[in-house]
Formats: sequence, C-alpha cells, structure tokens
Amino acid sequence: MVSVSDYYSATQLRADRWSSLREASSALTRETQARKITGIKARIAELFDSLSVVEAYWAFPGMAAFNHMRRQFEHGNFDELAFAVARVKRALTTGAYRRREIPLERDSVDEEEHNDEAMLSPEARAMSRPYFEILIVDSVNEQQERWLKNNVARMRRPEDPFTYEAVVVPSLEDALIAVLFNHNIQAIVVRPGLTLKSRNANEILNKYLSGMRDTDGIDDVIPENYGPELCRLVARVRPELDAYLVTERSVEDIAGMDLGICRRVFYNQEDFMELHLNILRGVAARNKTPFFTALVNYSKQPTGVFHAMPISRGKSITRSHWIQDMGAFYGPNIFLAETSATSGGLDSLLEPHGPIKEAQELASRAFGSKQTFFATNGTSTCNKIVVQALVRPGDIVLVDRDCHKSHHYGMVLAGAEVVYLDSYPLNEYSMYGAVPLREIKHQLLALKAAGKLDRVRMLLLTNCTFDGLVYNVERVMEECLAIKPDLIFLWDEAWFAFARFSPTYRQRTAMRTANDLRKRLRTEDHARAYKAQQKELETASDEDWLDARLIAPPAARVRVYATQSTHKTLTSLRQGSMIHVNDQDFKGEVEQSFHEAYMTHTSTSPNYQIIASLDVGRRQVELEGFEFVQRQIEAAMSMRRAIASHPLLKKYFKVLAAGDMIPEHHRQSGVSSYFDVEQGWTDMFECWEQDDFVLDPTRVTLAVGGTGWDGDTFKNEVLMDKYGIQINKTSRNTVLFMTNIGTTRSSVAYLIEVLVEIANELDELLDDASKMERLSFDRRVKNLTENFPPLPDFSRFHDAFRPDDITPEGDIRTAYYLSYDEKNCDYLELDGALHDLLEAGEEVVSASFIIPYPPGFPILVPGQVISREILAFMRALDVNEIHGYRADLGLRVFTAEALASLPRPAKPKPAAALKKD
Ligand SMILES: Cc1ncc(COP(=O)(O)O)c(C=O)c1O
Repeated sequence: MVSVSDYYSATQLRADRWSSLREASSALTRETQARKITGIKARIAELFDSLSVVEAYWAFPGMAAFNHMRRQFEHGNFDELAFAVARVKRALTTGAYRRREIPLERDSVDEEEHNDEAMLSPEARAMSRPYFEILIVDSVNEQQERWLKNNVARMRRPEDPFTYEAVVVPSLEDALIAVLFNHNIQAIVVRPGLTLKSRNANEILNKYLSGMRDTDGIDDVIPENYGPELCRLVARVRPELDAYLVTERSVEDIAGMDLGICRRVFYNQEDFMELHLNILRGVAARNKTPFFTALVNYSKQPTGVFHAMPISRGKSITRSHWIQDMGAFYGPNIFLAETSATSGGLDSLLEPHGPIKEAQELASRAFGSKQTFFATNGTSTCNKIVVQALVRPGDIVLVDRDCHKSHHYGMVLAGAEVVYLDSYPLNEYSMYGAVPLREIKHQLLALKAAGKLDRVRMLLLTNCTFDGLVYNVERVMEECLAIKPDLIFLWDEAWFAFARFSPTYRQRTAMRTANDLRKRLRTEDHARAYKAQQKELETASDEDWLDARLIAPPAARVRVYATQSTHKTLTSLRQGSMIHVNDQDFKGEVEQSFHEAYMTHTSTSPNYQIIASLDVGRRQVELEGFEFVQRQIEAAMSMRRAIASHPLLKKYFKVLAAGDMIPEHHRQSGVSSYFDVEQGWTDMFECWEQDDFVLDPTRVTLAVGGTGWDGDTFKNEVLMDKYGIQINKTSRNTVLFMTNIGTTRSSVAYLIEVLVEIANELDELLDDASKMERLSFDRRVKNLTENFPPLPDFSRFHDAFRPDDITPEGDIRTAYYLSYDEKNCDYLELDGALHDLLEAGEEVVSASFIIPYPPGFPILVPGQVISREILAFMRALDVNEIHGYRADLGLRVFTAEALASLPRPAKPKPAAALKKD
C-alpha cells in the first residue's frame, strides 16, 4: 500500500484508498487460491483501518454504513462487501450521493436507476437540489449521535431549497480537521459538550492542525471557551462558513467575545426547526446571485427592442441568411440576455443602485474588502482606475519595474513622478524575481532624507508575480507604514483572486492583511512594542532602519487596494475583474475621485454577461472555492512530484522550486522545495507564514534548457503543434504551466505522459545521432543552460525628466508626450549608431516603451537612459516580439535638441549652501 507520507493531501488518500478497496474486495470474490485470499484479506483489513480514521469526517457513506461493510468482511460476506464498496466508490466519484439515497444492500438496489445516474444530463444536474453537509461538534455516544442526526433529518421539508446531511465530531481539534478536510461542510453547529483534543492520531490529518497550533495556541484555551474559540478559529481558516453556537452560558458571558463566523447563538435550547431554517438561510445568502438572477428573469420577459443593439434577442441573427451559424453555435439564451437595458429590473454599472450594487456588496463580503467594484474590461483597466483615483500630478509613486504595462501607462496618465524598484534577477532562467523589502525601504528612506516624504503617495507591487512569487504582504505594509504612515498600497493581484479561498494563501492577500493590520494596530500590545522600538531607533542610522523589522505607528492609516483578474483564476468570462478596497480614508478622501476615475475608464456599454459571470463566480467561491482551490493545489503538487521523481524526466527537465527562484536569505524557514524525493512533502504553512517570499506551487515553471529547445520553441513547436497543449508564458529556457481551479488529476497525468514521450523521443534521437548532431545538441544545451545574458536593472531617468539628482523619481508623462512630435525623435540601430554612441560615453534616451515578450514588461520606458547592459540584453534577446521596437528602423530615442528644449528644473542647492547665501 502507498504510504500515508506519500500523499500530499488526505483527499487524494481517501479517493485512492476507496479505489484500492474496491479492487481488493472484487478480487476477493473471484480468487480461489488460499494463499492469495489470505494476502487480499490482509490488504482489505489494512484499508479498512486506514479509511476508518478519515471516514469519521464525512457524511457519506457515514460511519454506520462503513462499520456495516467492515462487519460483512469479517463475517465472510464477500459478495455483499464487493457490491457495497463498488457502490460507495461509484457514488463518491459521480457525486450521486449528493442527489439521492445510495442503498448499499444488494436486493434493494434499482439497477436501472443506478445506471441512469451516470447519464444524467447537465440540465438535470442543474435542476437537482444542491447538497451540503453540516458539522455538529459535540462529544456524544452512539445513541445520542443517532438522536441528533434523526432530529436534524426530521426537519427536512419538500420546499427546502437545499438538502444536507450531518457529520458529528467530538472535539474542537476534530472540528478544525473536518472543516479543512471535508469541503462539503457549509455550516457548523457547536454544542456545549465539545472537548478539545482529537483522539485520531493520524499523520496526514494532523498536518491540518499544525498551522493552527503555531498561530493560535489552541492548547491554552479553557474548557468554557471551547465553543466560542472554535467559532473564532474557523473564521480564520474558512471565513465563508456559518457557525451556530449552542451554549449553556449566559448572554452576558458571551456578549463581547470574538465569535468569528457565528451567525447566531442559541442559549441552551434544542429548537431544531429554528436551527434548520437558519442553516438554510445562511447557505441561501451565499447562493444568492442578484445580478445573474435579474438577467435570467429579464431574458424571459417579452420585450420590443428599440435601442441600438440589433443582436439583442438574436433578432439580427435569426433573420439573417448568412450568419445563422453564430446563433446555432451560441444558442438562444446568450442573445436573450444580451441587453443594455438598465430598466426592467437590471441595473447600471456606472451608477449601481439595484442588483449590480448588491452583487458588488456580496463580492466585497466574499473577498474581505470594504468596497468592491466590478470591471468589464480587465485588470488593465482596474489598475488605471485605481492609479488615477489616488495619484495626483507630481505625486511620487514607487513602482515595481517589472509590473504589468497597464501600471506604466497609468503613471503616464496620472502624471506621477515614478521611482522604479528593481526586482532581484534570476539570470539563470532569464526572469526577474520580486522586489526585496530592503530596496523599498531604502528608496523611502532616501525620499525622507530629501524631505520629499509628503509627496510619496503609493507603493505598487505585483502579488503574486506571473511566475508565482508571493510577497510577505503584512511585513511589507507594516515596515513601509513605519516610514510613511499614510502610504497607499496597490497590490496587483491579477493572478491571485483564488488565494482568498485557501487558508495558507489567504494570509498573503492584500484584503486579509489589511483587515488584520487594522485590528492589530489598535491593540495595546502593538502600542507598547511600537514605543519600545521608537526608543531603540532614536539614534539609529539609516542602515539600522534597513536592518530592523520596523513596527508601524498605531496611528498609521491602513489604505489598501487590490485589483484582480477574476477571469484568470476563477469562474468569469474574459475581462471580468474586480477592484477591492480596504482604505480607512476612502469615504472621506477618495470616493469622489474614485468615481471620476471609474467614469473615465468604464465603457457606457458594459457587457452584462461579464457582470453576471462575476456574480456567479462569487457564488461559486463562497460555496466551493475552498474545495476547488484545494484540488488545484493537489493537482499542482502531484505534477511537481511526478516530474521531480521520474528518472527519464529528470534527465531533460527540472521543475523550479522555491530554492531556485528565491535567494536563500529571503527564505527564513529554510524551505527550498515542497517535495523532495528523499524527504517527501514539506509543510507549506511554515514558509508561507514567515518567509520574505514564497513560491505559489500552482504555477509550475519547468526548465527546458536540457532539451536543447528554447522556451518559445518548446511552447510553439513541441507542446502546441505536436500535442495541443497551450501555455502562455516562457522565458529563454523555461516554460510555465499554470494550473487552475479546473485542472484535474487526469489533465496532469496527460501532461506527464507528453513530457515522458518527448523525453523518450529525445533519448532515441540522441542514440542515433551522428557526432556532429550530438555536438550541435550539446552546444544548444550549453548555450541555454550556461550562457546567461545578465538581466539589466532600471538605469535612471534622464536629468531632463528629474527634478534633481538626489532621488531617482522621474516625470514619465513629459517624456511620453515629448515623443508625440516626430521631430523630437531619432532612430538608432542597435549594432550601429546606438552601440557607437554608448561606447563613446554619450547619453542616449529612449523615447518609447520597449516591451519584449517574454518577459512582457518594459525594459525601457520613455525618458530612460539606455545603459550598455540594456543594449547587451536586447542584443541577446532571442524573441521575435518586441513591442515598441522596429527592427527595420532601430530604437526610437530623443534627439539632443529635444532634451535640451525642456526647461530643466534648477537643481536645489545643498542645505549648507543655502544657509551661506
Ligand atoms: C500582473 C498583471 N496585472 C494585470 C494584468 C492585466 O489583466 P487583464 O488581462 O485582466 O486586463 C495582467 C495580465 O496578464 C498581469 O499579468
């Protein structure tokens, strides 16, 4: 049997154990050799032991049925056993147990119904009542458990919108394991009898508790507080769930306690109907999709269309002689719902008062923001909206240089003075990492020393990066606030919307951190720690400030914005994005300018289908985001493991781990890989809690230099053309496989198969290769794995665009518009004039954004001085697509006259000189 430690998660272990049990119990009915029978029986006994620990946390098949199967095995009723196990396994795979009772006795089974289940049409599935499980936490004996479950079952009514089953566990620890393991659970009923400790000493289940023990010290809780404490703890790991606390304590005792996700407290009563109605109402509140529902209702109404939208209700298609195929392809509903009507129960995105407003409020709850705004044209637009709303001309903004281009254009539009921040380079893989906190603090301290801190407005970072690097958001915000207490943070979470729905990831999201910081800054402990540190820093140098883990002043303002491409990682039509706001000064200072910025960038004809899909995507994550993200992580982990441990794959490929992508001094936990062939799995929680940067395991970067193909060729000519596998990011010698919430274990298996096939073909090719062919292959590999064009840093803005040469901020907008006049620009060939001028020590200044794909961000921005390193990098780039660069003309630069024509600001005199004057 595969050992428990081989499994990344208990969910995979459970599924595999049931498969094994089905195979073994079926084999037992056929086997005739006594020796083999003994072996199979031993195996079945082991599987029962292993499953008995995990089944206690699930309603189906339930411990009673499970124990019954076990007894059948012990009594030698092997046919019955094989039958029941096969039915359970099948119901678990198809999800049939969610839709109907699964009888496990042979004579009670309706074969036809059984077969129909697999054939159920998507429509029939959509119409069936959603199923979930509730967790009852109470230390009860078998008889009391039956009483509880019967009481719950008796409350069911035909008109209920959902159906549910109960799981009963005895202790606080078991409840935490259950909510982290059983994704069917939607509500928890915490009863006064619960105990603290779990009696299940199981390695893989205990992993669920390790993170909680470290952070929340559950061992110190006193028995009276187990119930409230459980509600509080569940709120940290599964904030979307509802809890109901049944308590014998007085109202006064309970009032004022942090009850986390508790929706309702029942004081010492057994009103099961009241509980039932509350449970249904709680789930209905998440299941509600106000805008999607309004749109569906609208599409059913008969309407005459007298506005400019011929496609509405499919009229221009059904009457057509030439475009009927479009109607046939999409079906009628999409056109029935295609509208721009703000009447008829629909709402306006630009001025929402009805279902769009409500849908945004529900999204705000789901993502933990104070306000949420939908956008129907992607995070590119969200970024520009936020920047325009907050940044005034002349404000200084610290920007991660390798951020998405929408930010650079946003800076131009806002007229910001930009300080570009350099990420650490990963020269070996031709990609950038992320910006070290020290670099950010250094820039802030320099601006402070220059007396410009009051003009610093915003810090803008990408979390996580395209390649999956994730910041320590809390540490970054707190230390920056210690230097500039009202700094605004814009976290570009284009790739990180899903992070909210995993407890490990959530702690590194902008919204969770903002909420935590707001609470923590108000505590007395924090005020004391701040005071003590201030005393220590009284005589400190800048170097000391850089070294210290700075504590933010209690009066700091928490001002945080996050932009998310919902469509990239969750269910939404393309371009569906959200802006999440958690800004203490939003209402007082920003609301109006935000509104103007939103108006500037939002179409007056937003696509209602996109808005509806955002609404439905939110419903999904509130009810099953945890399950889907967990599955995604599992799929990614099994992919990492399969590649790392396959002997043939290891020859040509390498999955980059945290140790390859994050320098050691940024990994305080010492964790360098989530999976190691010798040591097995590492607990992710530890590094996610403390390290400066962590690697999002769901993005798998594969180094392919060993195949002799560069990333682009591997992507297009091998993966795409030969195997139909699509990916969207490469570097010189890597390709990035992104998993998503739809990735399954079988799609991972297919990818592994393909990689093995490629490796096999390479093996054969090299086997038959001539000496020359071998030499050419070795050269290509050497070139890709040993010769690295060093990645250039941001050089600097030319003096003509800088107010002084004390700090590096530059006026990108002036440079951008200077290039609108062709006579201000010239074109220089890389290998000709440009090279010669740089060799001669001349300053040459870029007039355009130059954006190579990959890496996909500007290596030059307007007004930036071109360094020799940048030229060397451009010459070494072996990519075809470089936006802003015309190979036939050369690089677009400013003429000396154009630069001289600018009113160069007078350089401020040093303070000493001022005094003398
Ligand atoms: C970091 C980052 N921000 C923003 C965007 C733009 O998002 P959208 O495609 O939703 O406009 C992207 C797109 O790839 C991105 O990678």
